[in-house]
Amino acid sequence: MGVNNKELVFNISREEFVDLKTYRERGGYTALQKALRQPPESSIQELKSAGLRGRGGAAFPTAVKIEMVRNNGETGRYVICNADEGEPGTFKDRFIMTHLPFQVIEGITLAAYLAGAENGYIYVRHEYPEVQRILRESIKEAEEAGLLGEDILGSGIRLKLEIFSGAGSYLCGEETALLSSIEGRKGRPRVKPPYPTQSGLWNKPTLINNVETLANIPKIIEKGSGWYRSIGTADSTGTKLISLSGDVVNRGLIEVPFGITFADIIEEYGLGAKPGRTVKAVNIGGASGVLVPGFMLETPLEYTACAKAGITIGSGAIFVLDDTRPILPNVHNRVKFFLHESCGKCTPCREGLRQANVILSKLLSGMATESDVVLLERYTRAIQEASFCGLGQAAGNSLKSSLEYFHEEYLAACGQECRDKEETA
Ligand SMILES: Cc1cc2nc3c(=O)[nH]c(=O)nc-3n(C[C@H](O)[C@H](O)[C@H](O)COP(=O)(O)O)c2cc1C
Ligand code: SF4
Repeated sequence: MGVNNKELVFNISREEFVDLKTYRERGGYTALQKALRQPPESSIQELKSAGLRGRGGAAFPTAVKIEMVRNNGETGRYVICNADEGEPGTFKDRFIMTHLPFQVIEGITLAAYLAGAENGYIYVRHEYPEVQRILRESIKEAEEAGLLGEDILGSGIRLKLEIFSGAGSYLCGEETALLSSIEGRKGRPRVKPPYPTQSGLWNKPTLINNVETLANIPKIIEKGSGWYRSIGTADSTGTKLISLSGDVVNRGLIEVPFGITFADIIEEYGLGAKPGRTVKAVNIGGASGVLVPGFMLETPLEYTACAKAGITIGSGAIFVLDDTRPILPNVHNRVKFFLHESCGKCTPCREGLRQANVILSKLLSGMATESDVVLLERYTRAIQEASFCGLGQAAGNSLKSSLEYFHEEYLAACGQECRDKEETA
């Protein structure tokens, strides 16, 4: 892809903590200075031209979201940085916050200024105490340097930024559950609309963005949309952080330009399957994502191409399974995870996942029949199509894709004893 010498958004090959002094020496906070000198609409237009889309999973255009909050007549708006990072196999936001905290804080400050918010939270999962410590210290340092708090850089603009710790619920990463959690209520999803941009935290217009999304903003304002669009493709601009794990030689966090194929990510960055093994399946998008076979890996990492292929980019987690791995235990683990995290509010998610868990347990102990597999397909459709929130809707992804691409493994798991019984019945 010819990106090795090109400056990217995170340049994560420099594996060090970037303190405020170093961040500023490398151009940090020139974006905020620039944005404060020009009308907010010009910076919003720059983000629009750059084509930045949310990196938290839904890929919503960031500038449009900022504009929705800005154009809302209500005062007392909020900005929230979603740092819950609960998606299994995802560790990109942790890296940004522990290595480049000021890039996120500058991004939040810019987003707040453009949206007209004066109060903000970083919602950090409680399993990240080190991240919380680093962010607290960095916020204090930014305040002392006049980059946060009252009268930012002498502009009269203010932003009070606080850390809010989650309590271990995956569902609280969902934006409306997250709002309830900050308000001190049960972290349960709310009906949408109204969207947080219309009525969010304490019913005020609220901008919620992922850590990676917000950390892209300073680079775009500093270097311009033309620079940003020169990375990636016309459809999907810029870079994506990928949490690469599983059966590859080289695991870890990488930054890739959009447009690269999944096969190239695995070969060029992951250095392929382990010696003597081949890639059998790849889970793309974390536990909420799909399980696809090797022949689909020539699909480019691009929103439109992936949507057409039925691939969910999600948080950008890629987990590789080699030819020694059976598919069913992997799917079963995901189902157990979602069953544990389901809040139980709606029947398709609560009961559908419970039934899927029972059938997968039967399959794995050789006690299932082919009619159980048919039933599993029906439950999967119900879970995906009728669940109230994104947790349930996405929980069926690995079930559906594995039932489609690895159907023979489901059939092979049906016990001979049970099959005989079914035939004589
Ligand atoms: C069950 C569930 C969990 C989620 N967890 C996260 C999360 O940990 N971090 C995140 O940024 N978005 C998460 N999201 C997506 C958020 O609801 C929201 O779309 C996102 O924070 C918006 O930011 P973006 O526009 O920058 O992508 C989750 C969604 C669902 C349905
Ligand atoms: S889909 Fe699942 S997590 Fe979401 S509201 Fe329904 S039961 Fe709760």
